[in-house]
Amino acid sequence: MISTKGKGTQPDRTEGHDQHINRRVAVLGTGNMGTSLLLGIVKAKLTPAQMIIACDINEEKLRSLAAQWHVRTTTRLREAVEAAEVLLLCVKPVTVPEVLNAIKPAMRKDHLLISIVAGVRIATLQEALGSMIGIIRTMPNIASTVDEGAAAIAFGHNVTTTQKLIAESIFRAVGDVVTVSESQLDAVTGLSGSGPAYIYMVIEALIDGGVKMGLARDIATRLAIQTVLGSAKLVKISGLHPAILRDQVTTPGGTAINAIHELESHGLRSMLINAVATATRRSEELSSMLNHI
Ligand SMILES: NC(=O)c1ccc[n+]([C@@H]2O[C@H](COP(=O)([O-])OP(=O)(O)OC[C@H]3O[C@@H](n4cnc5c(N)ncnc54)[C@H](OP(=O)(O)O)[C@@H]3O)[C@@H](O)[C@H]2O)c1
Repeated sequence: MISTKGKGTQPDRTEGHDQHINRRVAVLGTGNMGTSLLLGIVKAKLTPAQMIIACDINEEKLRSLAAQWHVRTTTRLREAVEAAEVLLLCVKPVTVPEVLNAIKPAMRKDHLLISIVAGVRIATLQEALGSMIGIIRTMPNIASTVDEGAAAIAFGHNVTTTQKLIAESIFRAVGDVVTVSESQLDAVTGLSGSGPAYIYMVIEALIDGGVKMGLARDIATRLAIQTVLGSAKLVKISGLHPAILRDQVTTPGGTAINAIHELESHGLRSMLINAVATATRRSEELSSMLNHI
C-alpha cells in the first residue's frame, strides 16, 4: 500500500513507515549511486531488507552490504531480476547494453524498471526490453549519499500511478524529488546532476579566500561549508527568493554590497547560467551518442 503522505516542498523523510512500497526490489549495480538508493530504501523502511536484492560484479561489495544491511545479494543479473518486481538500473552507461541483454529474457510485464543512467532514453530501454515494461528515467545527484539528493523523474508512457508513487518514494527517501518531462532531463543534468561540482568549486574558493585573509585552513573550511549549507537551508525553509535574502544581509555601504559589486563585475551570475547551459548541451550530445545502443 502506497501512501502519499509527506509529499510537498518540505517532505518529512523521518516518517518512512508511512511510505511503504512493499515490493521486492533489485538494485542492479551497487556503486556510489546504487548503494545510496539501496540504503535509502532500507533506512526509510520502504520495503523489508529481505525483499531487497543487490546485484553487482564485485563480490566484496555485496558481502559488505549483506553483512551490514541484511539484504540478499547475487552476482547474477538474471537471478536478481527474476526475484524482484522493481528494478533499479544503476550501472554506468557503457555497461547498459550488456546488462539489458542479460536481463531481457527474465523481464515480465509486472516489472518496473527505474533507470538512473545518464543519457539513456526511455525509448531505447523500451526497445531493448519490450514496450509492455513500465519504465521510469531519473536524474539523481551525488548528494543522495547523504540523504540530501536532488532528483528529477520522467515517466514512460505505460507507467501506472502506483509505479509512479513507488519511484517517488524511493527518491524522496534520499532527498527531494520533482517530476519533469523526459526532454527536460538534460537541463536537470546541467543544473542538479552536475551542480554539486560547481558548488564544490565555490566552497573551495571561499576557503582559499579565508586563508588568503589570514584564517587557518581548517577554520576557513568549517566556516565555508557551514555558510553554504546554512544559506541553502534558509532559502529552502523560508521559501523566500534568494535576492530578498541577499538584500537582507546587505547593509548600505557595508562589506557584503562591496563584495557583491566585485562578483557582479566578474559576471558570477552569467558564469553560472552559462555553466548550466553548457552542461545541458553536453548532456544532449552524450545522449545522442548513447542512444544508438
Ligand atoms: N555519480 C553521480 O553523481 C551520478 C549522478 C546521476 C546519475 N548517475 C548515474 O548513475 C549510474 C551509476 O553511477 P555510479 O557513480 O554509481 O557508478 P559506479 O560507482 O561505477 O557504480 C556502478 C556499479 O555497477 C557495477 N557493475 C558493472 N558491471 C556490472 C554488471 N554487469 N552487473 C552488475 N553490476 C555491474 C560496478 O562494479 P565495478 O565497480 O566492479 O565495475 C559498480 O559497482 C551511472 O549510469 C550514472 O550515469 C550518477
